[in-house]
Amino acid sequence: MSLVKRCRRRRTRGLPTLLVGTLALATSLAGGPATAAQQGTLHELAAAQGRYFGSATDNPELPDAAYAATLGSEFGQVTPGNSMKWDTTEPARGQFDFTKGDVVTDFARQHGQSVRGHTLVWHSQLPGWVTALPSAQIEAAMENHITEEATHYRGAVTAWDVVNEPFNEDGTFRTSPFYTAMGSDYIATALRAAHAADPDARLYLNDYNIEGLGAKSDAMYALVNELLDEGVPLDGVGMQAHLAVQYGFPYEMRANMQRFADLGLDVAVTELDVRVQLPADAAEVATQSTYYRRVVEDCLAVERCVGITVWDYTDKYSWVPGTFPGEGAAGLYDENLLPKPAYDAVRTALGGGEEGGGPGALKVLYRSNDSSSADNQIKPGLQLVNTGGSAVSLSSVTVRYWFTGGNGASTYSSWCDWSALGCSTVTHRIAAMDTPGAGADHYLEVGFTGGTLAPAASTGEIQLRLNKTDWSNFDESDDYSHGTGTSYTDTGKIAVYVGGELVGGIEP
Ligand code: G3I
Repeated sequence: MSLVKRCRRRRTRGLPTLLVGTLALATSLAGGPATAAQQGTLHELAAAQGRYFGSATDNPELPDAAYAATLGSEFGQVTPGNSMKWDTTEPARGQFDFTKGDVVTDFARQHGQSVRGHTLVWHSQLPGWVTALPSAQIEAAMENHITEEATHYRGAVTAWDVVNEPFNEDGTFRTSPFYTAMGSDYIATALRAAHAADPDARLYLNDYNIEGLGAKSDAMYALVNELLDEGVPLDGVGMQAHLAVQYGFPYEMRANMQRFADLGLDVAVTELDVRVQLPADAAEVATQSTYYRRVVEDCLAVERCVGITVWDYTDKYSWVPGTFPGEGAAGLYDENLLPKPAYDAVRTALGGGEEGGGPGALKVLYRSNDSSSADNQIKPGLQLVNTGGSAVSLSSVTVRYWFTGGNGASTYSSWCDWSALGCSTVTHRIAAMDTPGAGADHYLEVGFTGGTLAPAASTGEIQLRLNKTDWSNFDESDDYSHGTGTSYTDTGKIAVYVGGELVGGIEP
């Protein structure tokens, strides 16, 4: 179904900004060069199905350039993990500080991403002054907090988790300063205050363990029915989806999402991760991939499921090990920011199998290991990642890095200085191009003597070096494949071939 059609069909208070943003992103990408990476990002695949695919993030992570590069390129939506919570935004009564949340909304704006605001009212991460307030003052404090924060982020946030985690596991209301002061009416009051402050934001109730049918999701279902009957502004239900392989997949998740959708509400998977017991064995890794895939399939099967957010995309910054000792590895990417089998499962479920994720899909990550682009050596660092669903025989793989020779000798030497696979496995040669292109008259071709690259696996780093035999200087600055980045990224300007067929990157 087309995006435009989805937008028209929606029963909304105003056009869903989130999907307008998604549409704009999908449209702008349609005109760009078709690289394997661009065809394959999770968000692009989701956008083609009228959904977003996002990630939580947090301020301490954003200075990590490699982390931020993937966050900015692979995901179309972000949720701040902590920086919009009450203890951060109003640490003292009436003293608001939106600095950290603004960093996240700025990042999102720079990367064309939508933002889910998280969260206005929650029993946790509350500053001490709220819990110390007499009950009679709680309602005014809550309304003021919502009004100030939702007004500040008006236009920058497309959806709010207005109330987070209102229920206990048995479906009774969770005790909190808000519940104690106002009973369950605090929820309607919070939604009305948020709507008054930002009439365009999509307003959600969000909770965990409501993904499947059960007592807790029944309680949420009864609550939202009541709120809708009373005309309370409510647009959706967020299902956090902090899953764990040892507890099984949520019972009838698709049917559960559908019953909320049938009320005219949006549903969103807001905090997806799938933890395993460490160290993860092959069976757990396979089950984890299956759970991720099923969540995507269930969301795609429910028209009002608007998108999926993972609760940070990498194990490097996951909240899980800090909360569940002995458990972890819950994300789509590992601690080294490389995609795991679960990533490939998600891509395939999003319909990415044919474009970039089929057998033989590879991408090359590159960084410059050279501090000077005008000396007598060129030093590319490369890593090859299997983004497909099948193992690839490395002896069929070649990679090309293009450069210009310039003045001096036209004969070259190349070297493997270090490789995680062992340099004895890596072959390399310099070849002249029959028809030179812009920034390219020669290329370094890298190959492998053998070995297999499993789905989502990486070769690890391969440090290469080349020089002219007369050791005269290069001018690398305008070389086609040259970059100055010191973190591994997919630039698209180094090509990879399987059996001589181009499968990733663009030739000059
Ligand atoms: O900021 C302090 C730092 O100054 C201090 O040195 C450090 C020492 O522990 O703690 C830091 O605060 C931590 C905070 O995250 C910011 O990093 C807290 O200890 C830590 O408990 C807190 O965890 C957050 C958790 O919510 C709190 O409940 C996680 O990062 C965040 O991902 C998590 O997110 C929640 C959602 O909001 C709601 N659903 C569940 C989800 C996972 O718990």
